[in-house]
Amino acid sequence: MKLLFIGSRLYDDIDWYVRSKNIESVLTESNEEAINLDLPDQVFIVPRGMDGPKQVALMQKVDAIVPLIGIDPPLIDVAHMKEEVEEEYGIPVVAAGVRAVELTSNKIRTKEFYNDIGVVTPNYQILSSPDELELEFPVVLKQGEGQGGKDIKIARSMEDVKEYFEKFDDALCEEFIEGSEISIEVLGFKGEYVALPPIYKGETTLEGTHPLNKVKTGPCMVDGLDNNLVQHTAYKVAKNLASDGIFEMDFMYSAKKDQLYAIEVNTRPNGTRYLTTATCGINSLCELVNMAAGEFSLSDISDRLEYHYSTEIPIGDYEGPDVKEPVKSFQANDFVVHGPAGYQRVTARADSKEELEKLVEKLI
Ligand SMILES: Nc1ncnc2c1ncn2[C@@H]1O[C@H](COP(=O)(O)OP(=O)(O)O)[C@@H](O)[C@H]1O
Ligand SMILES: [Mg+2]
Repeated sequence: MKLLFIGSRLYDDIDWYVRSKNIESVLTESNEEAINLDLPDQVFIVPRGMDGPKQVALMQKVDAIVPLIGIDPPLIDVAHMKEEVEEEYGIPVVAAGVRAVELTSNKIRTKEFYNDIGVVTPNYQILSSPDELELEFPVVLKQGEGQGGKDIKIARSMEDVKEYFEKFDDALCEEFIEGSEISIEVLGFKGEYVALPPIYKGETTLEGTHPLNKVKTGPCMVDGLDNNLVQHTAYKVAKNLASDGIFEMDFMYSAKKDQLYAIEVNTRPNGTRYLTTATCGINSLCELVNMAAGEFSLSDISDRLEYHYSTEIPIGDYEGPDVKEPVKSFQANDFVVHGPAGYQRVTARADSKEELEKLVEKLI
């Protein structure tokens, strides 16, 4: 089995897994200074875009392609390449297709999609000027595209809205949900979908603190919220997107209104994956490899499901005890350190809350 991976930045997360399965690895990357270029069997530096990876896939006669791209902008090119390469050359590309990317890469289209399929999302308006506002304060102002909290502002007054419009000509304006933030990963391949356990990412704040900067826990334990509802809703969204790969979804739960709201979908490797793996043993990136190898199966995932308490803490720079090889895996570790220098996070797991607390004390 020979696989082409596109993008090296996340490759160290799965290098150990690819090796353990005796898969021959070919990787394309556009930045010759990028990390992890020493890990795959063969590396090709190609221009940005999907032409280079496609040529390498054909020349190297790979069995399948696994894009490992953790940011939004290239996803649409990947999706077009997927459709072309699958149709014309019969090489599977484990990624979301054009329709799924178009529906999820723009927050406005995503909300229309939720409405179409009957999934509740916070009330919203598209504003092209502040005086069109009809929703009550506080409201959340967003742009169609963006990740990591980019271009998002919580407005408590008309002043705030006007200030936002000094920078932008329009806004997606959403009702502010007071409550819990939840993420969940769904894996999908060839019409089969599995929703992994939901993760708790903290409470929403009027400052709009992004979950990237909060302590998170798995599995999600929020009073009044049934995790089955989250999993069922996520499954329904993924099934309607009808595509392949990883679907990471953000939800919010308002205890006051006893309502679950769908916020957004990311069709790519994402920051929730370490906590998902810590919590249930399933690693979404490894599953992409399984999909490519023709070994992805729902019953196999059910057989491997584990149940742990886990937490993820932003720590800046990790200075705790050494991590065992493979360092990005819970195979030999009860914690994993990830993220760039200065923004590292540690994800730890244990079989009880007490043990988890003790472990965390040891680590930070
Ligand atoms: N309707 C809302 N109510 C309360 N907080 C919100 C709302 N929408 C977004 N936020 C806050 O802003 C963060 C980022 O919003 P999101 O739509 O997920 O964009 P991004 O793609 O940048 O993650 C959320 O995780 C949450 O903390
Ligand atoms: Mg988000």
